[in-house]
Amino acid sequence: MESKTSRSPSPEFSPLAIGTDLAPPRELKSAATTDLDFSGLLADAIQLHEDLKSGNGGQAWPAGNQWSFKLQASGFRLQASGFQHEGRGENLELGAGGGLVGLGVASGCDITQPVYVTDQVNMLPLMEKNVALNKLGSKVQPAVLNWGEPLGSDVINFKPDVILAADCVYFEPAFPLLLATLSDLLALCPSATIYFCFKKRRRADMQFLKKAQKAFQTVELVDQDREVFSRENIFLYSFRSKTREGKSAS
Ligand SMILES: C[S@@+](CC[C@H](N)C(=O)[O-])C[C@H]1O[C@@H](n2cnc3c(N)ncnc32)[C@H](O)[C@@H]1O
Repeated sequence: MESKTSRSPSPEFSPLAIGTDLAPPRELKSAATTDLDFSGLLADAIQLHEDLKSGNGGQAWPAGNQWSFKLQASGFRLQASGFQHEGRGENLELGAGGGLVGLGVASGCDITQPVYVTDQVNMLPLMEKNVALNKLGSKVQPAVLNWGEPLGSDVINFKPDVILAADCVYFEPAFPLLLATLSDLLALCPSATIYFCFKKRRRADMQFLKKAQKAFQTVELVDQDREVFSRENIFLYSFRSKTREGKSAS
């Protein structure tokens, strides 16, 4: 595929117009299926099919890779600054791409409900393919969730209390849409926690964080892996509702 080198701060949004500053650092590869055992951490490797024809989430991005690795490495019991993800609850992933993070949660966590992996409609076939490849149909539910649009009745009924997002900060015009969806999800379930992992590529990415800090209670999750994340300019935050105190999720 053509690899353009536009460095415009607001590139044209097209799955095939990925500038080098927006693309994953690895070589852009042809469609392929890879076994990921996270350096031997997983006894049963996750099979991830990647295909950029589906969209720019068709190949796992750096924050998705790191976040997934961290989840596996910690045995899904991360503890830092009050952060504890054990997978219990209703998990929903935003901008899931091929679904790497959600698949990791489903295969490594003791989940009680299927994980919703969501993205735009063009990514649905790839998410479905990866769920089928890993025989995780009973544990992972792919669905369409367009940022900025009202939440669908499936999400409203599911009422997620753990929201995962990896590398969803990369396209400035989508920032308000993403913020609106994050707000809607926290309004739907005021006790929910959003785990937000992103790679800083441009100054605008920190503008997104500033807006999130205004809208939500934000905590940077710092632990022994901080150095590894820092080397790649990857940040991990939790976002919570500012009005969650005293409110019930029921
Ligand atoms: C950079 S990719 C990250 C994919 C995956 N989370 C990872 O870390 O590998 C961002 C994802 O956000 C999705 N996305 C972009 N704009 C969106 C929107 N308006 N609504 C829903 N998803 C969107 C893209 O389709 C893409 O899969």
